[in-house]
Amino acid sequence: MYSEGFLTEDDTLLRARERAGQLGCTPVLPGSGAVLRLLAAAAQARAVVEIGTGAGVGSLYLLRGMPEEGVLTTIDVEIEHQRAAKEAFSEEGLRSTRTRTISGRALDVLPRLTDGGYDLVFVDADKESYPAYVEQALRLLRPGGVLAIDNALWHDRVADPARRDEVTTVIREVGRMVRDDARLLPAMIPSGDGLLTAVKR
Ligand SMILES: C[S@@+](CC[C@H](N)C(=O)[O-])C[C@H]1O[C@@H](n2cnc3c(N)ncnc32)[C@H](O)[C@@H]1O
Repeated sequence: MYSEGFLTEDDTLLRARERAGQLGCTPVLPGSGAVLRLLAAAAQARAVVEIGTGAGVGSLYLLRGMPEEGVLTTIDVEIEHQRAAKEAFSEEGLRSTRTRTISGRALDVLPRLTDGGYDLVFVDADKESYPAYVEQALRLLRPGGVLAIDNALWHDRVADPARRDEVTTVIREVGRMVRDDARLLPAMIPSGDGLLTAVKR
């Protein structure tokens, strides 16, 4: 698709994408990656949480948008995935203080992070937990902070009312949750597999 190929990826991103393929974890598509970088830059996000590190493709995009002193806290339950992400961070030449990788189940880790302490939260892990991740994100974000949720269109299944499988239903519910929450200013960005975004008022 033209919009997904509009910006090309450099070798560091392509190698991270390759490692993701080897590990079987799906990274953000280039169009969504570019939007994440843009959001991090526009918000001048110094403190970012990523739920679902994978092999670090989304992390690289976020870090490229964040200011030099920004710190990405990224959580994944799979140590192998985080090991691959760390390879990508070192190829990128990032100082070790720019990333805080935490291994564990996100719902165990997130409650330990500071209320209102974050400028951007990116949700990209197990879909069944998305509603709980949105609740946590609302607590973690400062006023004016940005929420971004990947796979919000879930291979176009969310838009098809005939699709009633569990994952599609949960993601559809998350869409409603974000759209109807008076604390949020939402926008559905049809990049990649759909990036549902919102600013916390
Ligand atoms: C779609 S991949 C993340 C891709 C990554 N954000 C990127 O763009 O490269 C989803 C990741 O979520 C992780 N994951 C699944 N369930 C999790 C959980 N309960 N807590 C934390 N991480 C989880 C998986 O191990 C996997 O690495």
